[in-house]
Amino acid sequence: MALTAKDHSVPLADGNSIPLIGLGTYGNPRMTPKGTTYEAVKLAIEIGYRHIDGALVYFNEHEVGQAIREKIADGTVKREDIFYCGKLWNTFHPPELVRPALEKTLEALQLDYVDLYIIEMPTAFKPGDNFYPRDEIGKYIYHETDLCATWEALEACKDAGLVKSLGVSNFNKRQLELIFNKPGLKHKPVSNQVECHPYFTQPKLLEYCREKNIVIVGYSPLGTSRDPSWVNVKSPPLLEDELLTSIAKKYRKTTAQVCLRFNIQRGVVVIPKSFNPARITENFDIFDFSLTEDEMKAVENLNKNIRFVDTLATVATIHTDDVRLHWKSTSV
Ligand code: A2P
Repeated sequence: MALTAKDHSVPLADGNSIPLIGLGTYGNPRMTPKGTTYEAVKLAIEIGYRHIDGALVYFNEHEVGQAIREKIADGTVKREDIFYCGKLWNTFHPPELVRPALEKTLEALQLDYVDLYIIEMPTAFKPGDNFYPRDEIGKYIYHETDLCATWEALEACKDAGLVKSLGVSNFNKRQLELIFNKPGLKHKPVSNQVECHPYFTQPKLLEYCREKNIVIVGYSPLGTSRDPSWVNVKSPPLLEDELLTSIAKKYRKTTAQVCLRFNIQRGVVVIPKSFNPARITENFDIFDFSLTEDEMKAVENLNKNIRFVDTLATVATIHTDDVRLHWKSTSV
């Protein structure tokens, strides 16, 4: 099937579908002026994006929701045209907290349902008002988690109509199997959001997920912002790669567009974050060229099996205490 700007969705195992490109919306709350996410999402929808990836813990879901609602109100899209993915944060794993967390997201968005709701990480933090609980010496306070019990609570949210599809994020094969082997499993995870780009192509996880009919959603598909405070910058910059640069030249595209095209062409969803109008536009402009089979293989061979993002290190550095990211103190 030819992928086009208007039609680039792939089926999910539960009968729904997911657009292969979405706009990522995580920006460091300390560095991102108010209204930036709102403007980015509005522009993205105008350009043709139909998939927006967000989270309660990004503290800008209210801006995402405002943009989506305005684009519905002005007739650009209908609610059913938009695919919004929200995430269950680490402090909400106990089953009784799952629905309230999803309801917080819906309240922030001012929408009736989300299209996809995913467990953001397989690890849990101590529940409470503080999203980043730490002990006296600054270490994160983890919490025992029964992922199967959390999953059952998510299933109830789907049955209640608050979410259309259920998935996970940062799960490895063992953690996915835990859910798949759960006695009485009602709704299977349909997606797994993980780091994925030409330097970290996820061959094994991708193969396993294909077998299980799980769509991989690739975050940081351009190799991150390379902020040394949380990114492993020992790995060279993806966007300066020689092979990617030569392929880009051939098609008169940018290396970023080649990275995105590579993943969507092999059925991996990409959610590049950008709050920059030119780059939001550039990242969506990937439907007028395709890589040959040889080029796909060559890009696959760039895999270095090294992550740019160490998720927990990321959480630890970005969300320092001075940010005071308590949901109660945000404008949600
Ligand atoms: P910006 O918002 O200034 O465009 P993530 O890894 O979370 O998807 O973030 C992607 C990073 O790459 C962001 O820092 C984003 O910054 C930047 N970026 C997005 N699109 C492009 C592009 N086409 N070329 C170069 N950098 C990009």
